[in-house]
Amino acid sequence: HQAEPDSLRTPIVAVLGHVDHGKTSLLDKIRGSAVHEGEAGAITQHIGSTAVPLEVISDIAGELVNPDDFDLPGLLFIDTPGHHSFSTLRSRGGALADIAILVVDVNDGFQPQTHEAMDILARTSTPFIVAANKIDTVPGWNPEQNRPSKVAIESQSERVQSDLNDSLYEIIGQLSSKDISADMYWRVQDFQKNVGVVPLSAETGEGVPDLLTVLMGLSQRYMKDEMEIDTAGPAAGTVLEVKDTQGFGTTIDTVIYDGTIREDDTIVVGSKPEPIVTDVRALLQPKPLAEIRADEEFEQVPEVVAAEGVKVAAPDLDDAMAGAPVRVVGDRELDDVLDIVRKEL
Ligand code: GTP
Ligand code: MG
Repeated sequence: HQAEPDSLRTPIVAVLGHVDHGKTSLLDKIRGSAVHEGEAGAITQHIGSTAVPLEVISDIAGELVNPDDFDLPGLLFIDTPGHHSFSTLRSRGGALADIAILVVDVNDGFQPQTHEAMDILARTSTPFIVAANKIDTVPGWNPEQNRPSKVAIESQSERVQSDLNDSLYEIIGQLSSKDISADMYWRVQDFQKNVGVVPLSAETGEGVPDLLTVLMGLSQRYMKDEMEIDTAGPAAGTVLEVKDTQGFGTTIDTVIYDGTIREDDTIVVGSKPEPIVTDVRALLQPKPLAEIRADEEFEQVPEVVAAEGVKVAAPDLDDAMAGAPVRVVGDRELDDVLDIVRKEL
């Protein structure tokens, strides 16, 4: 099989930031589901993924995103619970995210996990934008659901605008003390040189249209080439989580970022001391727009094409590791694929 790109995959967007700064709420707002309410306590225990098709993005972003201007199929969001699992994931599994949203509570500013997230992004050279969240909590804020940022800000009293500006410039100052030149996103000309800050509220949805517009625009403009994949090739992916699934024993939640994985495929999964070689027994997928973590009603599918989150059931997965690579062997030599996986660990 000759590897030739034939399709554009969905960019993978990691959502990072300090505890309680609103990562899950932001995704909830975007997908309009109530995963957040179903979570035990306020702390997210796991990592999940959510595919949002271009049409949905366009619906939320309104006139800001015209689907005709884009040929990327949408965005695949990865929620993260905080620092530890994510750095493990990143350092072991390599660059899974194509782009990231760094969520910062405008009132709380930079906190330890914000710094840690920035270090991860710098280390992996992942481009990011800053979501300055919870603008609705500025005292005196006058909310109106789902408005674009600038409209929302300009309709506030001068006092509110000035308070918000102080907080936003504090965030921009924090970024600049890390040698990152940032500005309000509407003033950024070149997103490769400057980080855009999007003021928003995951509660009222104000600024969410802007965030999706910037993400879509950035992906389309700077990442299109990297999104070209050979859909017919053997799948490559990363393990997000290893867990028991009723009726299937130990399974792995994975994000597939290249090629296709099918039932009965032989796969190599990263593990210590040696990678696991096994055959796919079942591919379980959440329903469209559902959070992989919260939806226990998986449907069995014959194949999955990148980029998608999928739960893989197979024998012998007990020693699989979160963050480890997954590869379909396909028509390659097993030894060659084993070498690829060993190198990535
Ligand atoms: P971890 O997963 O624990 O790291 O937290 P998180 O970043 O996912 O935060 P989460 O979305 O769980 O939000 C924490 C709290 O902040 C919840 O009570 C949310 O309702 C609240 N919250 C999040 N975003 C906003 C916002 O824009 N405005 C207001 N008023 N509250 C918000
Ligand atoms: Mg969360």
